[in-house]
Amino acid sequence: MKSFYIKTFGCQMNVYDGQRISGMLCGLGMMPTDDVTTADLIILNTCAVREKASNKVFSELGRIRNRKKPDALFGIIGCVAREEGANSFRRIPELNFVLGPQSYHKLADIIENPDAKLLNIDLSGLEKFDALPPMIDNPVVAYIPIQEGCNHCCTYCIVPYTRGRELSRSFDDVINDVHAATGAIEICFLGQNVNGYKDKDGKNLADLIQATAKIESVKRIRFTSSYPTEMSDGLIKLFGQEPKLLPFLNMPIQSGSPDVLTRMNRPYSLVLYIDIIEKLRDVCPNIQISSDFIIGFPGELDSDFEMTCDIARRIGYINSYSFKYSPRPHTAAATMDNQIPENIKKQRLKILDDILTENNRTFNESCIGHTMPCLIEGRDKTGGHLLARTPYMQQVIIAATSAAAVAPIQNIKITSANKCSLRGKIV
Ligand code: 5AD
Ligand code: SF4
Repeated sequence: MKSFYIKTFGCQMNVYDGQRISGMLCGLGMMPTDDVTTADLIILNTCAVREKASNKVFSELGRIRNRKKPDALFGIIGCVAREEGANSFRRIPELNFVLGPQSYHKLADIIENPDAKLLNIDLSGLEKFDALPPMIDNPVVAYIPIQEGCNHCCTYCIVPYTRGRELSRSFDDVINDVHAATGAIEICFLGQNVNGYKDKDGKNLADLIQATAKIESVKRIRFTSSYPTEMSDGLIKLFGQEPKLLPFLNMPIQSGSPDVLTRMNRPYSLVLYIDIIEKLRDVCPNIQISSDFIIGFPGELDSDFEMTCDIARRIGYINSYSFKYSPRPHTAAATMDNQIPENIKKQRLKILDDILTENNRTFNESCIGHTMPCLIEGRDKTGGHLLARTPYMQQVIIAATSAAAVAPIQNIKITSANKCSLRGKIV
């Protein structure tokens, strides 16, 4: 039996794509392997959002080409494949295939015709979702993409180029995927602009959440990543009405400076952004918000950066990510004046990271003594502890009383906390 090795970089969307591809390859009679030196087919599933992620792919390709079997089929798929296109073959001549994020189903062609060099970086829409079989593994958390691409065109972002214009999958296809994820206790809907989801019949994300909540076996629902101005009143209200919808929302602000937001082409005011959070807190007082931040966007002044720090403290975001701005090909920001020197980006990133860590610590400590319904995700390596997630995606470590299986949702009383995780006990 032939074997395949697949390594995924980047976002949850890539993780999902990787699972569907594995399903397809198993359907073609292949088996997965972790050993790149013996694999017959080697696939790197790549991310191009930041330059560092993109460079990592080519160093990994360089390492693999010296270790792989001489006749192994070897290629890249995903956003770096789309970004680099035919140039990938010039950089690594041993590559057999280069497939963009919407052409994964073409992998079968290279298996049938191994002598060809296959390049397909077309944006062929939602075809791949129909062509790839359902997932093979049966995780407790199922990540389900509901749209592909993005129409927002933020000036720093390569996604509209690599994944194309926004396309929403049909409501029925998504609900079929939810039903196919039979072991899933938690459903996480994915999209670059997930709350902008609208199918051809006008069904929106709130409709999807309500239909999913009716499925008995699904106990928790969440979605990521939301664009602020797409938070409809109907969706906001659901946080107060639907108990299965977790009280946790990822809604990136990116910067706290109105000038920087304008240059990022993110046309919302801070007043509007804060107003959305207030509306959410009115209907769901215990909701927590997370954000992504970009530090050192071209022209960012100390005073702009201060505003980002202020908003990070003021909203009290938890579980947030901060990134140094990274110029990407095909984006408007890459050619803007006043690019910020690396040492300043580094200094600012450290300051913001300290604020975000402090927010996490404060929130984690505020959980001590409280009991929360948590999702049991598995055991640690020693088997002595259960690992669980709170409704806010914090990790909880629980001393396991026995090796017996426990129900997937447990009430956990939090007994201690630090900046990264919680400890608790089943009550
Ligand atoms: N540089 C740095 N961070 C970026 N992101 C997107 N593009 C860039 C870039 N060019 C970040 C944004 C986004 C997250 C997925 O990646 O914060 O929300
Ligand atoms: Fe990129 Fe902006 Fe779209 Fe997010 S909303 S994927 S940052 S263009």
